Amino acid sequence: MAGPSVSAQVLAAALLLLLATVSGSTDRKSRGSSRIPFQFSEEERVAFKEALKGAIQIPTVSFSHEESNTTALAEFGEYIRKVFPTVFQSSFVQHEVVGTYSHLFTVQGSDSSLQPYMLMAHFDVVPALEEGWEVPPFSGLERDGFIYGRGTLDNKNSVMAILQALELLLIRNYSPKRSFFIALGHDEEVSGKNGATKISALLQARGVQLAFLVDEGSFILEDFIPNIKKPFAMISVSEKGALDLMLQVNMTPSHSSAPPKETSIGILSAAVSRLEQTPMPNMFGRGPLKKALKLLAKEFPFPANIVLSNLWLFRPIVSRLMERNHITNALVRTTTALTLFKAGIKVNVIPPLAQATINFRIHPSQTVHEVLELVKKIVADDRVQLHVLRSFDPLPVSPSDEHAMGYQLLQQTIQSVFPEVNIVVPSICIANTDSRHYANLTNGIYLFNPVFLQSRDFSSIHGINEKISVQNYENQVKFMFELIQNADTYKEPIPHQHEL
Ligand SMILES: *[C@@H]1O[C@H](CO)[C@@H](O)[C@H](O)[C@H]1NC(C)=O
Ligand SMILES: *[C@@H]1O[C@H](CO)[C@@H](O)[C@H](O)[C@H]1NC(C)=O
Repeated sequence: MAGPSVSAQVLAAALLLLLATVSGSTDRKSRGSSRIPFQFSEEERVAFKEALKGAIQIPTVSFSHEESNTTALAEFGEYIRKVFPTVFQSSFVQHEVVGTYSHLFTVQGSDSSLQPYMLMAHFDVVPALEEGWEVPPFSGLERDGFIYGRGTLDNKNSVMAILQALELLLIRNYSPKRSFFIALGHDEEVSGKNGATKISALLQARGVQLAFLVDEGSFILEDFIPNIKKPFAMISVSEKGALDLMLQVNMTPSHSSAPPKETSIGILSAAVSRLEQTPMPNMFGRGPLKKALKLLAKEFPFPANIVLSNLWLFRPIVSRLMERNHITNALVRTTTALTLFKAGIKVNVIPPLAQATINFRIHPSQTVHEVLELVKKIVADDRVQLHVLRSFDPLPVSPSDEHAMGYQLLQQTIQSVFPEVNIVVPSICIANTDSRHYANLTNGIYLFNPVFLQSRDFSSIHGINEKISVQNYENQVKFMFELIQNADTYKEPIPHQHEL
């Protein structure tokens, strides 16, 4: 027995040694000897928490397309210079102000053969009235482990976490390998036409092509689906399009004492009602949703797990279930929202003009043109004129397969920073972000905010008591810190070898 046992031990030892050497060398190659661990002093952690509070206190409000607090926008530019001095002094980092208030940072990597990527965020916020808030919305006060204030989730948390991570890396002598950009918009809440649009044009003029970009848009969801207890991360790989359509009926005015059989109000109401009663087609089964449900399936108890794992069979049922809830409904179809209705001037006058505006949010598998054609068919009345006020197509669906670098990097970083999250699923963002302005620069647009969110937190975004936990913010900084380093060492997966 001794003999074989000894030789087995020797063999095992030899194998271990071999393994250690092999993995040691690949480790050095893939991770680089300069991997910087995420370890911070208490003092540093307090400093980066305080930096976020300071950012919240500057009321960078976008009131409307025409009006924003430009004093605050300018002050914000001064503020980031003050709290991130190393970023602004680094020889690797070039900083430019674009569109008067937005910021573009170019971080120069040492390996020009690696395609650059971009991290995005915006620092303008929607207005906040004090009513209903537990602390004033621009106070940045901390209570019970939460930092309160407008912009703590949407989206100064990202602005500050990205710059904070870079600041911390540079202080630790980080030298970037892969170049990247940081684009911080100042008017995302009101279309991004002076910020993101101009940064995008500038990069396009410079001939930049990005491997991928990461913007706000989706979260790590906790207690979101009643039967799924574990948190799961959603990465949006597309964003809905939009169409603001005005319907108008013009008739000759007449007196209410002898009304015509049909009036502008009646004709318009009927048309609008037909549109509301005829939802746009259910697109379930197209786009990323099917893949997401498949990935989530095993987390559900019986029988939902079986149903979701066998969508080839149960698709009609699931598709109908999705329609029942107004949020999941928004994921499966182009939504129709009647938002403005105007007609009439006087109680005894039949008005010549009636107008209604409808806001459609377009599913990634449809286009503006297709929605318009459907609207014409549903309205089916030539007296109703259609005027497009504003429209844009959905973002093309970005890849989420094993070769999709941006998606893989996010997934890898999620799994290392948040070990409690074991599922990452692709999704659709039902709101809009600045990222659509960059569609010419890359086909890898990923929307992900590395923050845990419960369903009740959603209403705080643009609502009252918007807040982020100190722990969540610290994790976000850590996430950015790791993501930037992971992007430097990313390796394309080796293609599957077919045996001959
Ligand atoms: C605009 O921002 C400044 C600080 O930068 C602030 O003092 C002022 O009250 C803000 N104005 C409005 C209308 O919110
Ligand atoms: C994208 O590129 C096309 C062709 O160069 C150009 O016409 C268009 O304006 C660009 N779009 C954006 C949003 O930059």
